[in-house]
Amino acid sequence: MSDSVEKLLDLEDKVALVTGGSQGIGRAIALMLAQAGADVAIADLNLEGAQEVAQGIEALGRKALALQADVSRAADVRRMVQATLESFGRVDILVNNAGIYPAKPSALEIEEQDWDRVQAVNAKGVFLCSREVGMEMVKRGKGGKMVNVASFEGVQPFISGLLHYEASKAAVIMLTRSFARELARHKINVNAVGPGFIDTPGVRGPMEGLGLDPVAVFTPRIPWGRLGSAEDVAKAVLFLASDAAEYITGVCPIRRWRHAGGLSWRDGGPLLSQ
Ligand SMILES: NC(=O)c1ccc[n+]([C@@H]2O[C@H](COP(=O)([O-])OP(=O)(O)OC[C@H]3O[C@@H](n4cnc5c(N)ncnc54)[C@H](O)[C@@H]3O)[C@@H](O)[C@H]2O)c1
Repeated sequence: MSDSVEKLLDLEDKVALVTGGSQGIGRAIALMLAQAGADVAIADLNLEGAQEVAQGIEALGRKALALQADVSRAADVRRMVQATLESFGRVDILVNNAGIYPAKPSALEIEEQDWDRVQAVNAKGVFLCSREVGMEMVKRGKGGKMVNVASFEGVQPFISGLLHYEASKAAVIMLTRSFARELARHKINVNAVGPGFIDTPGVRGPMEGLGLDPVAVFTPRIPWGRLGSAEDVAKAVLFLASDAAEYITGVCPIRRWRHAGGLSWRDGGPLLSQ
């Protein structure tokens, strides 16, 4: 590969801020951006997890900063961005990855507080972080990259009892498009990824709690024949955060599920609903 092609994915001298970076997809993204040369701030509710990922980044020879923040709270988001600016002087790349998906047995069992919390973290969190970092990027005048972790369920409902999550991820896709349009004149790219089923602690924990193995449940429903890994998503995020994606904005490459069957957790087990 020529030097100039390799340079397209080179993030040396870039500063990235990754939300929800303590585990799962966010952890893999933080480590991959560091492997590509970036210094990385990791913000998460779980400070201990963020510190452990920061150590992994430092072991790669990059600078890292672990921060505790709840992305649904404007004051936390402001503190998170200020702390990153104090340590690194700027933010070149924002990855809005923090998200929750607390499944209920059915849509009708989703309570008001379930709805409010999921929208607050998944949708409002993306808005608050993008706005805060966007203001800094515009002030600095050197452009930037934002990558949002949406979901295929933002365009295609699939699992019963996740209606609040699906609505929040549809909002993330529209936030991506809206911010992309408004920030384009500042040379800030805003894109998203829409993963399918990814093997992470967030998926494994609750499923194993129900005595279910995610690999056995999901694999037969995935044409590619396996669940995605967190690293699979991180590779797509790396591309969108790099110079290789310079003229791409407002897109969400997504895994679309064309068949009508879905899953539900009724009676403690996953069933094809149609
Ligand atoms: N795993 C999948 O199959 C899948 C598929 C599509 C999209 N996604 C999306 O990918 C993202 C990561 O998912 P994952 O499976 O790695 O989840 P995960 O539960 O394994 O990790 C999520 C991380 O986000 C943190 N977090 C949660 N709420 C937060 C908040 N308010 N503020 C800051 N940090 C917070 C958690 O502490 C955790 O470290 C989410 O946005 C999720 O919706 C996941």
